[in-house]
Amino acid sequence: MAGIYIHIPFCGQLCTYCDFHFSMSLRRKDEMIDALLAEMEQRKEYLSNKKIDTLYIGGGTPSLLSVKELGSLVSGVSKYWDISNLKEFTIETNPEDLSEEYLKDLLSLGVNRLSIGVQSFVDEYLKFMNRRHDAERALRCVKDAQKVGFKNISIDLIYGIPKLTDEQWRETLKKALSLNIQHLSAYHLTIEPKTVLGLRQRKGLFKQVDENISQSHYDILEKETHDAGFEHYEISNFSKNGLRAIHNGNYWKGIDYLGIGPSAHSFDGKSRRWNIANNTRYIEAMLNNGGEGGFEGENLTLSDHYNEYIMTMLRTIDGVSYDNLKERFGEVYAEYFLKNIEPFVSKGTIIEKDNNFSIKTADFLISDSVISNLFYINEND
Ligand SMILES: C[S@@+](CC[C@H](N)C(=O)[O-])C[C@H]1O[C@@H](n2cnc3c(N)ncnc32)[C@H](O)[C@@H]1O
Ligand code: SF4
Repeated sequence: MAGIYIHIPFCGQLCTYCDFHFSMSLRRKDEMIDALLAEMEQRKEYLSNKKIDTLYIGGGTPSLLSVKELGSLVSGVSKYWDISNLKEFTIETNPEDLSEEYLKDLLSLGVNRLSIGVQSFVDEYLKFMNRRHDAERALRCVKDAQKVGFKNISIDLIYGIPKLTDEQWRETLKKALSLNIQHLSAYHLTIEPKTVLGLRQRKGLFKQVDENISQSHYDILEKETHDAGFEHYEISNFSKNGLRAIHNGNYWKGIDYLGIGPSAHSFDGKSRRWNIANNTRYIEAMLNNGGEGGFEGENLTLSDHYNEYIMTMLRTIDGVSYDNLKERFGEVYAEYFLKNIEPFVSKGTIIEKDNNFSIKTADFLISDSVISNLFYINEND
């Protein structure tokens, strides 16, 4: 089992909260596509002998590329890996790019899961975030996607925005959940230093919401998604009819993945590699230097691997199984986990069932305080 991710490092605007890697200049788009294809060729041995279950084109804004350009990337992937039995092929899109014709062409390309960055259904907050679409456009593109035949649609929303009232957040959720979508990703606004909001915060012009507001928005999110029949399966993710995100789910489970493109990460079970987050240097490395200078990497120690696994799995309803932990990391780690999780089981924050430990969904928001107590520090690593 394995997944392939392709990062498209271009955007049409600078969203005030975003620190993903992208450039707003499309001048080198053609060279970038050549560089992505060159990286695929250079790394064709990665994931060899692994069955590819998922393909994920993310960004940045993949929907800034034409379907022909996306098609050339898919052909590139299929040249080196067998993608004839993909379970999931997702593309991240921005509402303003999604004409009916474009949506139809994405379906023809084999995309079977559409992720749409709606962020809000209130124009005031879309403006605050510097999004290019308005609420009406967001609604229309979801309906158009359904009309052309998409049966697995996910939308992204952001909460914990200053001034966003409980009522507005509830209405936003009701609107989203009434659209017959299969998946929702709802993220609490985080302030990253290298963003417009980070800069405003440093200048004292912006203040994050306080914990009471975060909690209140989170409680509304829990209730509305539950009432609409969604499963809250990860801190920020909700699915209907079992349609959880397979690609992202595999990251959390520590399954191998190959990341192509600037800033993309890869993991092969032992080592991690991350590509340079700079378009010019990435193009130069992939097209003229056989990849050299285009990435860094490290071997993961067992404790790194254990810590990542605990951190991601405890944010899911699947939680951590003692037996699984013992099998993957050995008895020392499994016993360490057991000893340190015990106080949380006694307090009721952690639910234990058949030697499986999970955080109650109502407490996901405070999961970090539990997780930090379970990290294993190995002085010899
Ligand atoms: C790779 S990003 C963007 C995908 C796509 N370009 C878009 O804008 O819709 C995926 C999602 O992460 C979320 N996100 C990014 N930065 C965030 C932040 N600082 N706080 C909360 N959510 C964030 C947004 O909901 C966004 O849609
Ligand atoms: S949120 Fe999406 S569109 Fe906005 S800057 Fe980030 S990647 Fe680009």
